[in-house]
Amino acid sequence: MTKQVTFLMCSPRGDKSASYSLGSYVTRLLEEKGIAQQSFKIYQIIKNSQKIDEMIKSIDGSDIIVLSSPLYIDGAPYMTIKLMDIITEKNNQGKLSKKDRLLFANSNAGYLEYYHNNIALRIYEQFAEKNGFTWAGGLPIGAAGTYAMYPIPEFLKMLEPLPEDDPRKEIYEKPTKIIDSVIKTAVDHLSKGERVPESELKKLEFIPMPLQAYVDSGNKNWIDTAESLGAKDKLRDKPYELKK
Ligand SMILES: Cc1cc2nc3c(=O)[nH]c(=O)nc-3n(C[C@H](O)[C@H](O)[C@H](O)COP(=O)(O)O)c2cc1C
Repeated sequence: MTKQVTFLMCSPRGDKSASYSLGSYVTRLLEEKGIAQQSFKIYQIIKNSQKIDEMIKSIDGSDIIVLSSPLYIDGAPYMTIKLMDIITEKNNQGKLSKKDRLLFANSNAGYLEYYHNNIALRIYEQFAEKNGFTWAGGLPIGAAGTYAMYPIPEFLKMLEPLPEDDPRKEIYEKPTKIIDSVIKTAVDHLSKGERVPESELKKLEFIPMPLQAYVDSGNKNWIDTAESLGAKDKLRDKPYELKK
C-alpha cells in the first residue's frame, strides 16, 4: 500500500504555471486516495541546503515522486537539471535508503505538439534509472499554457455548458477530457504502486487543435496585450533601424 508522495514543482512561474496546475492535480488526486504529499517548489529551495535536506528526507520516505517541469529549448530547464544533479549526488552519498520508489513525470510544452516533450521525458527516465527509481511513465503535454490559465477541473466545468457546435468543444474540451482521463487512470496505478501502462500514456499522442487556431489565439493575445499597453499601432515599429 502506497503512503507518501513528494511533488517536485520545477517551474519558476510558481502557482501560475502549467507544471503547478497539472502536477498539483495529480498529487491532489493521490491525496484523495489517502496518500500524504509533501511539495517543493524548486526555485525556492535550490540554493537553500536546509530545504534541500528536507526534500531529500521527503523523497527518502516516499513511494512516489512526481516531477512536473516546463520544457525549455526541447529539453529539461536548468533548474530541473540542477535538481536531478542534487538528488543524484545525495543518493550517491547514501542519503536515500533502499526502497521501491516510482518516478512519474509531467513535461509541459508551449507548442501544440506533444512530441516536443519526448526527449525531456527520456532524460527523466534516465534520471530514474540512474537513481534506482522505477520509471512509472510521463505525461507529454502540448499547448500546456492552457492549463496554466485554467486547472483541469475548473476548465471542464467552464466548457461543459457550451453548445455542442461551439468550436471550443472540439479544440479545448475534447483534449482536456482525454488528459483528465489519462491522469485519473495514472493516479489509480500509481496509488497501487504500479507503473502507468504505455497504452494509457499513448492516448496523449494527439495534436489538440488545428495549427491555425493556435496561431490565431497567439496573435489575439499578442494584440490584446499591446492594446492594453496602448501600443497596438506600434507592433510593426523597427526602432533599431536608423531613421533617414
Ligand atoms: C526559455 C524558454 C524556452 C522554451 N522552449 C520551449 C520549447 O523548446 N518548446 C516548447 O514547446 N515550448 C517552449 N517554451 C514554452 C514553455 O515550455 C511553456 O510556456 C510551458 O507551458 C511552460 O511551463 P510552465 O507554465 O510550467 O512554466 C519555452 C519557454 C521558455 C521561457
